[in-house]
This record gives sequence, C-alpha cells and structure tokens, in this order.
Amino acid sequence: NAAAGQIITGKARLAGVLGWPVSHSRSPVLHNYWLRRYGVDGVYVPLPVQPGAFEVAVRGLQAAGFRGANVTIPHKEAAFRLADILDDSATQAGAVNTLIFQDDGKIRGLSTDGAGFVASLQAEGHTIRPGAQVLVLGAGGAARSVAAALLGQGMGVHVSNRTAARAKELASALPGLGVVAWDEWENRLGAYSLLVNTTSLGMAGGPDPQFRPRLDCANAGLVVADIVYVPMVTPLLAEARQCGLQTVGGLGMLLHQARLGFTEWFGVEPQVDDATQAYVLASLRG
Ligand code: ATR
Repeated sequence: NAAAGQIITGKARLAGVLGWPVSHSRSPVLHNYWLRRYGVDGVYVPLPVQPGAFEVAVRGLQAAGFRGANVTIPHKEAAFRLADILDDSATQAGAVNTLIFQDDGKIRGLSTDGAGFVASLQAEGHTIRPGAQVLVLGAGGAARSVAAALLGQGMGVHVSNRTAARAKELASALPGLGVVAWDEWENRLGAYSLLVNTTSLGMAGGPDPQFRPRLDCANAGLVVADIVYVPMVTPLLAEARQCGLQTVGGLGMLLHQARLGFTEWFGVEPQVDDATQAYVLASLRG
C-alpha cells in the first residue's frame, strides 16, 4: 500500500512545483513517494501558475508557510530575477529551478540540473576525470546547466548547436567553453570521452523522435548520455548500445536534481535507488 506511510498533520512541511502547464510534471509523484517512504510529515503539490502571476504566487507561498518550491517552464528566468540570494549553480546556469524560502524572509535560488546530471553519471559508475573532453549537444537552458557543471568538474567542454549563434552566446556566458559546428560534430567524436544530448531530439512527441546520429564506434571509451527520458532508451542511446558503447539515460538526472531540493525542504536525504526508479517509471507508463 503506497499510502501506508503518509502523514500530513498541521505541522506538515510544504513544497511544490510552479509551472505552466504543470500537469505533465513528474515531480509531485516523485517527492510524495519519498515523503511516504521516509515517513516525513510533508506534502508536495503541483502549482499551475500563469506567466504573469509568478511573483504574486511565490509571495503567496512564502506567506502561507511553504519551505520552497521547484520552478519549471516558463518561470526559470523569473525565479532567477526574484531570488535574493543566488547559489553559484544558479549564476552559472543563468536560471533557477529550486527556491528555498529562508526563515529570515529571503529567497535562495539554486539550479540543481547540472549537479543532478553529474550525480547521475557518478551513480552509474562513471568517474569524472578533470581534463577529459565532453561534447554537449544543444545550447538551451539544459545545455547551459550541464556544461557549467562539467566545466566546474574540470572537464574540457565543447557545445554544438543547430543555431550557431546560440552556441556562441553560450560560450561567451561560460568561460572556457568551446564550440563545434553542428554539421561537424559527428566527425569529431573521436576526441571525446563523453557525449551528452541536451536537445529535445529523440524525445517522444518532440521535433524529431527518430534522431539517430552516426556514432564513431571505434572510440570504445565514449560514454553516451541523453537527458531525454521518454523513451528511456532514445534512438541515440540505442545506436550507442549497438556500437557497444556505455550509455546513461535521462531519468537519473531527473531523480538526482529532485533529491537536492527534497533534502533542503524536508531535511532528509532520499535515496535514488532501483525502487525509486521503478516507481517513477511505473508512473510514466501509467
Ligand atoms: P531547454 O531550455 O530545455 O534546453 P530550448 O532552449 O528550447 O530548451 O533548447 C532546445 C534545444 O534543442 C536547442 O539547442 C535547439 O536548437 P536551436 O537552438 O537551434 O533551436 C535544439 N533543437 C530543437 N529542435 C531541434 C532540431 N529539429 N534540430 C536540431 N536541434 C534542435
């Protein structure tokens, strides 16, 4: 019985996710699973907030005693502007996906996506070696978070993006970031030990669900990661597996970035284990 451990008393700790739309968010399922599993007196709710109503909603949550919230599309930049204190992760990402309402009334903003990605790599047994070379596909918000976190680990990072101007813009925001032309990256894969797709290519219902680039199978040390998690095995990852390359799916990043917020709001560090993955996967199918 999944509800066996549920406790919501008058002292319950409150958190949620602000987004528009928010109905597709997996965060409520995940956080409430952990709350039940660890017997935490708390609740995590979806908060459908229209673009113009973000600040008034945040002030309302603060006034209502919430401990904080996740922030998703389209509010991540507004959250960045609203936060009183920005962690380094947020400054580097240029966005905030996690808000912590402090007791002194100040709002702390974090970006947990990059750290979540790094944690998911490590959890799957991949060591992050300073100086190792990474190629990141994409130049949106997800690319920026992932590239910043990998640069922070001392890795050599290049980005490649269909729209070259966006890749250049990202490189000027993140010192040390290199750029590879979009029509060149497949030929350059031999130079990398990690490839990360941060675009929506390969996502079910996305711009190109069949996205299956040509991989350099000769580079046997290449690890191929995708932040897309629907489907779990994207065509890119399928291609990598066919080459015999190691792969990392996107679900781990989702779970690990959530773990960081959960720990801040609820005071318990949840485990990202097989049981957690299985629960979230079942909810994705359901
Ligand atoms: P997010 O903030 O989630 O990363 P985004 O800012 O919309 O989302 O970025 C989406 C990424 O997917 C971009 O890198 C985008 O490339 P462009 O900057 O050229 O638009 C990439 N992308 C989306 N559809 C694509 C397609 N059909 N081919 C190549 N890249 C695509």
